[in-house]
Amino acid sequence: MFYSWLVFAHLVGVFGFLIAHGVSVSVGLKLRKERDRDRITALLQLSGATVIWLYVSLGVLTAAGLWAAIGPQPKWWSFKKWPKVSLGVLLFASVAMIAMARPYYRRLKEKMQMRASGVPMASEEELADILQSPIPVVLAVIGFGSLGVILWMMVLKPF
Ligand code: HEM
Repeated sequence: MFYSWLVFAHLVGVFGFLIAHGVSVSVGLKLRKERDRDRITALLQLSGATVIWLYVSLGVLTAAGLWAAIGPQPKWWSFKKWPKVSLGVLLFASVAMIAMARPYYRRLKEKMQMRASGVPMASEEELADILQSPIPVVLAVIGFGSLGVILWMMVLKPF
């Protein structure tokens, strides 16, 4: 019974993560084609406001998932292989996002600021270059790929 509650808490974390991070996923894909500065700023603010919930839900899903996987094992590390690999994939995606998404979107936010003279920090060309960067595509491949692999392991439990 307690195990079922751990799985419940784990899935609350998963649902929360997908709802919260779905905002950044949509914003990340939409920004590539956006050129209106006010809309870019509004989209960046919207995505940024969900990051706290991304981390809260990531913490809940990881803690409850690990607790459910470890359970009452005599040796805590002797739990099955697929939850360990899933945790590794989740960590890999998180580190890749922090290393690539965070600096990229911070730079974009900075470039959306105005100079004291009232001239934008980035010219139209510079802005277009940043928005056309391959980074959001790389993030989408890593993010969707990781989610697919984790879901495959959760459902099929291959090892
Ligand atoms: C296993 C799946 C994923 C994990 C664990 C994950 C995790 C993270 C983390 C930890 C951040 C860093 C937030 C920060 O501190 O600034 C982030 C940001 C971001 N991720 Fe993901 N992510 C995943 C999937 C995806 C997917 C599929 C996309 C799709 C395009 C995506 C797009 C983004 C974007 C655009 C940001 C920047 C948000 C912002 O700064 O406004 N992520 N992600």
